[in-house]
Amino acid sequence: MSAPIVLGIETSCDETAVGIVRGRSLLANVIASSVEEHARFGGVVPEIASRAHLEAMQPTITQALKDANISLSDIDSVAVTAGPGLVGALLVGVGAATGLALGLDKPIFAVNHLAAHISVDALTHTETLTPTIALLVSGGHSSLLQVDDITGSITKLGATMDDAAGEAFDKIARVMKLGFPGGPTIDALAKTGDADSINFPRGLTTSNDWQTRPFDFSFSGLKTAVARYLEATPDYAKADVAASFQEAIVDVLLLKSLAACKASGIDSLVIAGGVAANSRLRAVAEARCQKVGIRLRIPVPGLCTDNGAMVAALGSLMVAAGRAPSPIAFDADSSLPVTTVSV
Ligand code: KG4
Ligand code: ZN
Repeated sequence: MSAPIVLGIETSCDETAVGIVRGRSLLANVIASSVEEHARFGGVVPEIASRAHLEAMQPTITQALKDANISLSDIDSVAVTAGPGLVGALLVGVGAATGLALGLDKPIFAVNHLAAHISVDALTHTETLTPTIALLVSGGHSSLLQVDDITGSITKLGATMDDAAGEAFDKIARVMKLGFPGGPTIDALAKTGDADSINFPRGLTTSNDWQTRPFDFSFSGLKTAVARYLEATPDYAKADVAASFQEAIVDVLLLKSLAACKASGIDSLVIAGGVAANSRLRAVAEARCQKVGIRLRIPVPGLCTDNGAMVAALGSLMVAAGRAPSPIAFDADSSLPVTTVSV
């Protein structure tokens, strides 16, 4: 018998995304983004996102079924992001997913967006995920986690005390007038810059910080330092600023990730979330992990940023682990903690 088919729906931010997997094989991954409608506001406008999800939902599901070459009746389980995210946006996905599960009389798995980011690794690597240290870096969250079982046991080791890593990229891009979202633009611009040209601060890395907050992050000091530099240097070289800023973030993310591996005795690191698409983070992670013998896994760039495949992947892992589905009437939770894998 072939593995069950899971359809996953993701609407936590500005992507209306539907993924379909069979076991750990990806069958479809369709993403409709409303990012252009938000760009002139410099960030995602919740109500615009919700309305865009409503419009895009049905065509996105239809396209995913077509790409997977299946019909609705082939679906064995439905998975959906229950949080964290924008509540009005989440509710559109939750409404669509519960409607599908009810109509098809199939189980529904209401899962955590952050755990789903990590789970997508299962689609590209056959080796089991656990135990592993996970660096989760997205637009809304940055944390270091110990994952003993991605379907139910995640421990938080540390998190950002202010901005998320992706948020820092987006804010610096805004002050440099590089557009939204900032991460991909800074990544591209940094390729032609000198990462050693400006020595920006590495947050929470004093010896006292290593004693008291070894696995927490802070990017607000870096953000202020970059803003001050820009003010004081009217003819600044954009590429050098981008490269030096990016280097400060990459450096501190990896210093702390490798310290978490060392402290826990776990020789495996997964990097997930939108910022995991960053080319410099990927390259430096590979070099540093190889040096100290840590097995590194990062999803392909296209599966790092928000997508439906990751939700389907986590749903599929829940099915395989024999986890109980969610009740059909569950709540979307805009601040669902990363340690709650499903509701
Ligand atoms: O995971 P994600 O798609 O959405 C959230 O759950 O937040 O992450 C989006 C974030 C944005 O802040 C975006 O600027 C950042 O990921 N990002 C990047 C890159 N691609 C996306 N940051 C740095 N380099 C990139 N290549
Ligand atoms: Zn995300």
